[in-house]
Amino acid sequence: MLQQVNGHGSGSAAHSGESLREDLKELLGGEVPPQQLNDLTKVNPVTLETVLRCLQARYMADTFYTNAGCTLVAMNPFKPVPQLYSPELMREYHAASQPQTLKPHIFTVGEQTYRNVKSLIEPVNQSVVVSGESGAGKTWTSRCLMKFYAVVAASPMSWESHKVAERIEQRILNSNPVMEAFGNACTLRNSNSSRFGKFIQLQLNGAQQMTGAAVQTYLLEKTRVACQAPSERNFHIFYQIYKGAHAEERVRWRLPEGAAFSWLPHPERTLEEDCFEVTREAMLHLGIDAPTQNNIFQALAGLLHLGNTRFADSGNEAQPCPLVDDAQCSVGTSALLLGLPEDHLLETLQIRTIRAGRGQQVFQKPCSQAECNTRRDCLAKLVYARLFDWLVSVINSSICAAPDSWTTFIGLLDVYGFESFPNNSLEQLCINYANEKLQQHFVAHYLRAQQEEYAMEGLAWSFVSYQDNQPCLDLIEGSPVSICSLINEECRLNRPSSAAQLQTRIESALTGHPRLGRDRLSPEPSFIVLHYAGPVRYRTAGLVEKNKDPVPPELTSLLQQSQDPLLKVLFPADPEDKSPEEPSGQNRAPVLTVVSKFKASLEQLLQVLHGTTPHYIRCIKPNSQAQAQIFHREEVLSQLEACGLVETIHISAAGFPIRVSHRNFMERYQLLRRLRPAITPSPHGPCPDGGRSECPPCTEPATLQGLLQEILHTLPAPLHCGRTKVFMTDSTLELLERGRAQVLEQCARHIQRGWRRHRCRTQARRRRAAVLIQAAVRSWLTRKHIQQLHAAATVIKRAWREWRIRMAFLASEELDGVEEKHSPHAPCSPGSSPLPPAQTRLQGAITRLWPLGLALANAAVGVHGFQRKLVVFACLQLPVGSPRSCAVQTAQEQAGVLSIRALPQGSIRFHCRKSPLRYADTCPGPSPDSVTGFNQILLERHRPGHV
Ligand SMILES: Nc1ncnc2c1ncn2[C@@H]1O[C@H](COP(=O)(O)OP(=O)(O)OP(=O)(O)O)[C@@H](O)[C@H]1O
Ligand SMILES: [Mg+2]
Repeated sequence: MLQQVNGHGSGSAAHSGESLREDLKELLGGEVPPQQLNDLTKVNPVTLETVLRCLQARYMADTFYTNAGCTLVAMNPFKPVPQLYSPELMREYHAASQPQTLKPHIFTVGEQTYRNVKSLIEPVNQSVVVSGESGAGKTWTSRCLMKFYAVVAASPMSWESHKVAERIEQRILNSNPVMEAFGNACTLRNSNSSRFGKFIQLQLNGAQQMTGAAVQTYLLEKTRVACQAPSERNFHIFYQIYKGAHAEERVRWRLPEGAAFSWLPHPERTLEEDCFEVTREAMLHLGIDAPTQNNIFQALAGLLHLGNTRFADSGNEAQPCPLVDDAQCSVGTSALLLGLPEDHLLETLQIRTIRAGRGQQVFQKPCSQAECNTRRDCLAKLVYARLFDWLVSVINSSICAAPDSWTTFIGLLDVYGFESFPNNSLEQLCINYANEKLQQHFVAHYLRAQQEEYAMEGLAWSFVSYQDNQPCLDLIEGSPVSICSLINEECRLNRPSSAAQLQTRIESALTGHPRLGRDRLSPEPSFIVLHYAGPVRYRTAGLVEKNKDPVPPELTSLLQQSQDPLLKVLFPADPEDKSPEEPSGQNRAPVLTVVSKFKASLEQLLQVLHGTTPHYIRCIKPNSQAQAQIFHREEVLSQLEACGLVETIHISAAGFPIRVSHRNFMERYQLLRRLRPAITPSPHGPCPDGGRSECPPCTEPATLQGLLQEILHTLPAPLHCGRTKVFMTDSTLELLERGRAQVLEQCARHIQRGWRRHRCRTQARRRRAAVLIQAAVRSWLTRKHIQQLHAAATVIKRAWREWRIRMAFLASEELDGVEEKHSPHAPCSPGSSPLPPAQTRLQGAITRLWPLGLALANAAVGVHGFQRKLVVFACLQLPVGSPRSCAVQTAQEQAGVLSIRALPQGSIRFHCRKSPLRYADTCPGPSPDSVTGFNQILLERHRPGHV
């Protein structure tokens, strides 16, 4: 970054050059160590070399998943990594608001598909195409994804539906061990190689719960039953019954320990896939009960014994080939286990029935030794293929949901990867043809369609040259002339065909084709097809025969006569037996060859895929030894080239994998206009209603384009508006979805706020009403109380006044009596004892008001202290203005007299703190200023001797 100090560049030119370099480094991602680059589109520049280096660094750092634009690259760890597939991690990806921001993982793809189904963006149905070469980890990946869906699509609705969903999910997961036991085998490249293609459709209801599944299989390699390449094994199930049968079952199935079977090579090799109990358990969960299982395993044991049936050359065409050594015993056991008559079985293997002539006369011709072996193998393949198909149908009936119980699906395609062996035949041709088709689907989806659409929509886009495999497909399946059509024609012609003849036909008919090659050094007739993943040489010998896959009618009718319950189901008797007159050889109906059947099923599959949003997982095998922590650059490089990963990265990095029609886009995202003020403030300022409604009202019909532009301006996201569609990247879609969630949350908050406001208002109104009622009641109660007090006060006042009047009257009466008694005494002569004026006044007061007790008694009840003194002063006519100058302290106060009450009879009652007898012999003090002593006087007065 350029440093700025006060608006000026702080450094020299050298410094700015350094900063620029740093910027560039950052831009090119040079700073990020390759093992931390989660997306190969961030590798700069995108070349095979840089991509390879990044993948290697990540693999060595135990990081096995890397994004490559729209594709996920999955490296096979070749070691257990349990924490990478734990249910906790599944839940973490499921709960993440943006799984893309987490580390690349197959769960990101899983979650993406699951959310796409939920968001209902067209096309709603999703498919995950897992591809890669044998042993790269396709089956492992699909298995993990199925577990992921089983965890995330578990029903949260009710306990009951949860249980049902769990049961279905368990059954779907149980289909894996059964299908792998019967359809997988140990090959040179993978000890658990799928020998069939599989498309599993996980069916979801409206609530995104998994309600069922449907399995479709493709091209089982049934030849493996009777013919295994050196160092390879037969299907796992044969080893499972051979090794896992109980003693009693061994007797029943005639499988003594240590017995040798020619169709069971390398029984000593123990694989973890040889677990019989797991298969049995899974079959039981799928509804295949123990007797049926026993029946199946018995038939398989019968096939093993059939494999031990070997024929010797008879040396005479007219004689059937005899059995070698103890083969008779094997035929007998096989016939017993398959519920067939032994002699009928042997005769069918040894003698061919031919219908010829106008009358379709039946001839019987002993087969040659090779023919006998072929018929034996054909019988085994026929039984095994029918058994496999029957198992698939049983699994389907066990896991398939009713058509009206599901609305959407997520498809998982696990097909055999591209194959190129020293000797390639029809099987490899079909497998590679399927891979070409899938590659074309990928090319069509991400490369061609994308670029063509950009051009059509008027987007500025520079085309990236890509490898289009259409010419290769034209060579294999094109019309009118192609390899498949030529092989099919050979089958239809029903003539003896030689390998050299076929090679010549192919070369002459397709001469000059850019994708057809020829190996001039090859000792045997062959042709080379330049596949997108590399050239493959196919031997022409046996192609036509394999394509015909002829099943002698005698074999079918033999099996239809079986007494075995399972074989009766697998080979039901024809309801209407073909009339022998029907000329089978001249049947003009198109011959159903292996290639034509395979082509039909492939087209059906691609039709399904075209109706879905595809997701791609490219599995890469880091080494062919299946060893952890070993990265073979050459092997990985050829795989990267084979899957066209580099072109994918180029286009994904620069392109817009997400396209939504204007109308769909608007329907889903027009609510984002509500975010507009928050992100890009309107130049006209806030809404007039104070910003409560953040979007303009949608009452006016706006044009589609106008609205679209408005939405596009809402988010600062790289959106490109084409003529009919809006183009964007995954991250933009994520941004839009986040904005949408934000608006929906805002709306929910508005609703919640409105509801809360309404509730608060109602509560406040109720509270106010309650307060009003309470206040009214309280004021009424208070008024009532005051009225009662007033009434009581009036009564008291009246009584008080009456009492005072009565007291006053009594006091005046008493005073009158006193005056009368004192009147005989002459007043003191002024000259006898001259007194100061105050003393004189006091004396007067004493003279006039000596019964202070009465004065005090007349004072208001409850009057104490100073007020009481004032009353006394008033009685004594002392100056009130200067109470300090004439501090009065009543003697009775000092003596503890609390009150003096004059009784009507003329006596005064004292209420004393102390006994009045204390004063019995006390004379009033001589001090004229003192008012003390009046009480003593009063006491004296009452004393008989003094008064
Ligand atoms: N993610 C993984 N973690 C651990 N081991 C794995 C993983 N993926 C694959 N493997 C190992 O690689 C082996 C081969 O994987 P898988 O059978 O899935 O290959 P495939 O691509 O299906 O091959 P094929 O085309 O032959 O069927 C597995 O048996 C397993 O041991
Ligand atoms: Mg597989």
